Amino acid sequence: MNPLTAVILAAGKGTRMKSSRPKVLHPVCGRPMISHVVDAARTAGAKDIVLVINPEMTAIKDLFGDRVKYAYQEEQLGTGHAVGAARSLVDPTGEVLVLCGDTPLLAGPVLAELINAHRLAQASATVLTAELADATGYGRIVHSATGAIERIVEEKDANPEEKAIREVNTGSYCFDAQSLFSALERVGCDNAQGEYYLTDVLPIMRTDGQLVQAYLASKPILTQGINNRVQLAEAEAFMRSQIREHHMLNGVTILDPNSTFIDAAVTIGADTVLYPFTILQGETVIESNCIIGPSVQVKDSTIKEGTQVRHAVLQEVQVGPGADVGPFTNLRPGTVLAENSKAGTFVEIKKSYVGPNSKVPHLSYVGDAKLGNSSNIGAGTITCNYDGTKKHVTIIEDNVFIGSNTNLVAPVKIGHGAYTGAGSTIYKDVPPGALAIERAEQKNIEGWVEKRRQKLSCEKSKSKLE
Ligand code: UD1
Ligand code: CA
Repeated sequence: MNPLTAVILAAGKGTRMKSSRPKVLHPVCGRPMISHVVDAARTAGAKDIVLVINPEMTAIKDLFGDRVKYAYQEEQLGTGHAVGAARSLVDPTGEVLVLCGDTPLLAGPVLAELINAHRLAQASATVLTAELADATGYGRIVHSATGAIERIVEEKDANPEEKAIREVNTGSYCFDAQSLFSALERVGCDNAQGEYYLTDVLPIMRTDGQLVQAYLASKPILTQGINNRVQLAEAEAFMRSQIREHHMLNGVTILDPNSTFIDAAVTIGADTVLYPFTILQGETVIESNCIIGPSVQVKDSTIKEGTQVRHAVLQEVQVGPGADVGPFTNLRPGTVLAENSKAGTFVEIKKSYVGPNSKVPHLSYVGDAKLGNSSNIGAGTITCNYDGTKKHVTIIEDNVFIGSNTNLVAPVKIGHGAYTGAGSTIYKDVPPGALAIERAEQKNIEGWVEKRRQKLSCEKSKSKLE
């Protein structure tokens, strides 16, 4: 089979986004839109991927590194000029898929259909077209009497009759490489925008006696390009609903799809239930039989089988299996909650390991700590991990009982099976099996309340006499 190269055009400024960031890096469902396009090209069988970018777009190179090739277009002289910039990186004996970096909904299977249609017809060019109710802004497809494409006319160059055409150029094409570059050499810039139009290769190919055809997309929405933030939100909404549908068909219950947001890379196991206002972001993995939500935001985390998470924020953490988180819990990067452990109400845990069956049930801050198995942290316990300059570690071994309102001044270690008395500030290591208690002796002053009452009433009657 002919080697297939994808050339993805992304050097345009995307001025209508009104953004300091290149348009194609704006995320759709948690991933830069150009990443969706690169994935689609790979799924469709592209061996090499060439991104045509402006040399200033270093963030795009940071994103892909050497997984793709880069062609530089210093001046944006049009789509034809942009494809020309990629010429030396394309295998001339093969086929070229030309795509735009701003069509994130265009999935691999649609591109595979386009390539298939191209090969079946042995065409030199196949243009992915779409029929739109409102074709404003797009190039219109002008067909010849035989049904092949005669040419594509840009909106700015079109007469009223041509403007009435509803079949548009989506900006995705499959070409025979040799025919493409041979025709491109002959493209001029005598048009309304003074640009080198890629679409002008089509009539040149026809003059060369080659077949130029259209492949009409069955779902126009998938071909939609993004030019502004309204279209960005539309694409986001469409992709999100597809993602939710995918998970529901794979056995995930979503109680209220409209209030549930799941990024493209998230995986969810069967029989997990998502309650309303759940946001699953980044590279998050939720295993099966979990209960997530209501009101949960999880980013780049793994939640293992049978875990429950309610009203919580989790970022870069690993939880479960069988753990219980929430309500009102903040789990920060580097936290691991092992099997059957618990982080409960008004608890914040940062960069800590909570061992199997250990519990931090209420009102605690645990930072830079390592907890063993089956330890219990009393309400109001705080690890004092920061001395104003450095962070220090707290170690709590197995079967430890930390009394309520304990301050653990790190670095400090509580040995196996030890207890701390409620309200203690623990600043020395506690040996295994010991009770550490640090608080002033309690004093009870008998009859104090009555004596005070009498004193107050005496003062009151004196002031009345004056
Ligand atoms: C282009 C098509 C039009 C089609 C539309 C679909 C041409 C002449 N017109 O028009 O028929 O309906 O796409 O969206 O091709 N780019 C560069 N360098 C350039 C110019 C553009 O890399 O010098 C990139 C842009 O970043 C973008 C893509 O090419 O990803 C399309 O460019 P754009 O300016 O949006 O083309 P349109 O005028 O919309
Ligand atoms: Ca466009």
